[in-house]
Amino acid sequence: MTNIKVILGDITSADVDAIVNAANPKMLGGGGVDGAIHRAAGPRLLEACRQVKPVNGIRCPFGEARITGAGNLPSKYVIHTVGPIFSSDPNPSLTLESAYTNACNLALENGCKSIAFPAISCGAYGYPHEQAARIAIRICSKDTYAPLDIYFYIFEKPLYKLFNNLLSQD
Ligand code: APR
Repeated sequence: MTNIKVILGDITSADVDAIVNAANPKMLGGGGVDGAIHRAAGPRLLEACRQVKPVNGIRCPFGEARITGAGNLPSKYVIHTVGPIFSSDPNPSLTLESAYTNACNLALENGCKSIAFPAISCGAYGYPHEQAARIAIRICSKDTYAPLDIYFYIFEKPLYKLFNNLLSQD
């Protein structure tokens, strides 16, 4: 997987076509990486999120992904995806696989050549880190996504080391 790299750093500095946000179903911002992306992107990102039609207040169901402009961020797009809440999702691995799959598919469908992911569900949503990292790498390593330069922007050093160790094992 020469097309996959792990970076220790803030995803809002990623110079890629699409930055992936670990959002929630309301898709109107939040804490963690969601908060950081909205702060860096500015109010135009929130406006773009509001344009996504909600169904019963939900703009992006768990495991799905939506694409918007990126406001002041250097990237062209923000791809919002919602990972599983580990403690309450009946099948968290399936939901996490779907989140990475749907984000990569949206990137390809929109002509992206590069994409940056945070560690989806590895913060507030409580996914055990090794299991989440294995899923992230397994999905992003699929031949379908070989055309994409994929960057995992990891914010915590232990998680960064974990992603790197697992990637070098494959
Ligand atoms: N750049 C990259 N990664 C970051 C950044 C950043 N600026 N800030 C935080 N992270 C990391 C966290 O350290 C964690 O490893 O992103 C990973 C995902 O953590 P969360 O942001 O908490 O996302 P998640 O676990 O998917 O929970 C989503 O949290 O922020 C809310 O609105 C969001 O309700 C949603 C929930």
